[in-house]
Amino acid sequence: MGAASSKSRSEGARPQGGRSQLRCIACGAAYPLDEVRYRCDCGELLEVVTDFASFGRAAAEWKSAWAHRRHEVAFLRYKSFLLPGLPDDQIVSLCEGDTPLYRAGERLRAYCGASELWLKHEGMNPTLSFKDRGMVAGVSWAKHLSARRVICASTGDTSAAMAAYAARAGIPSAVLLPHGRVSAEQLTQAITYGARVVELETDFDGCMRLVQELAADRRVYLLNSMNSIRIEGQKAIGIETLEQLGWRVPDYFAVPVGNAGNLSALGKGLRELKEIGVIDRLPRLVGAQADKANPLYRSFKSGFAPLEPVTAGATVASAMQIGNPVSFTKAVRELKASNGLVEQVDEEEIMDARAVVDQSGIAICPNSATAVAAVRKLRISGEIEENASVVVMLTGHGAKFSDSVHRYHASPTSRFANKPVVVEADLGAVRKALGM
Ligand code: F0G
Repeated sequence: MGAASSKSRSEGARPQGGRSQLRCIACGAAYPLDEVRYRCDCGELLEVVTDFASFGRAAAEWKSAWAHRRHEVAFLRYKSFLLPGLPDDQIVSLCEGDTPLYRAGERLRAYCGASELWLKHEGMNPTLSFKDRGMVAGVSWAKHLSARRVICASTGDTSAAMAAYAARAGIPSAVLLPHGRVSAEQLTQAITYGARVVELETDFDGCMRLVQELAADRRVYLLNSMNSIRIEGQKAIGIETLEQLGWRVPDYFAVPVGNAGNLSALGKGLRELKEIGVIDRLPRLVGAQADKANPLYRSFKSGFAPLEPVTAGATVASAMQIGNPVSFTKAVRELKASNGLVEQVDEEEIMDARAVVDQSGIAICPNSATAVAAVRKLRISGEIEENASVVVMLTGHGAKFSDSVHRYHASPTSRFANKPVVVEADLGAVRKALGM
């Protein structure tokens, strides 16, 4: 592996304009886009910087270019804004994207106290989480670079997505998972897509430390969100949401936060949309964390103090059980740029919010519910105004987390419990159970 071969560079349709490079978010040092590199020599994170002006397009032309490509898969439609340097014939897609944007029903709006509430359901992607948006970019880039093996550490969704896209590309994959801290369904996904699954007796932060050491060996290509290419793919979620809203900018855009890659991607994408003139203001970003895994919240509460890693406690929002978020610096930058907020919620608030969303016919995971619960809390405290328009990104599907559903609904103390009953196969007993 290494820089892309001249062969793959010349293949496929290359769009006009759109020179990109990797740039350090701290010292500004630049590196070629196709260099395999996850950090600057100074140790900080990198990001992709694209020269959008080189396209020579006005805002209306960007919008009409996307509208004309409506029939194409989202990543390809927005590719000139995401990763213009990627040849079309390298794209490895599972038809991700074009996920539903639901208007919240009356009960959920009342529960959250929000008069205009939208749910962008990224759990409706092929592997049931938003990670597919990043993996279409990351695995396509791995193919473009002729990577021999892809690898990631994960709390269960990155691993599922990477395993699926790698299988689609025919690239071997390996995942490092914290043993016993990933749901049965998430583990099943990595196994069934054919990844080499290595479970470690540590937490996610421990897996992340090890995978970064492994990635120093250029025989593996790292696809965690510290890979800046993956972040570019995730920008599509924000653009697509805005397009679905007819380019009307919501007042708030809430997302659950673990490793902080998603918040960073959303913020970067929206800032760049403003830069090219497609939108004229930014929504305020809202980061949501479980109170047992809250390093970003703690920093926010002390005026964005430097990251103090914590040992994250077990939470129903297990995909966010992260105490040392890799993309912390990027997330803080986006929160500052959008005058954003961070809120934390407890286990009960998470599962109650999940139940209310689920009971509106939209199945969500506890990680997503964290963002719904955070919006409710910020409405109650008045930090989000009553008439504000709010979009919540639902990051994963409920079907990935059945265990916590059964526990919640079996407990008599759960506020919105719906406990199944077991009765004799007898008409009278069934009638009684149905209250008939
Ligand atoms: N929601 C879900 C469903 C997730 O899987 C994750 C992260 C997050 C929210 C938080 O996003 O890390 O970008 O801040 N899951 C990662 C994984 C860590 O390995 O699957 P983030």
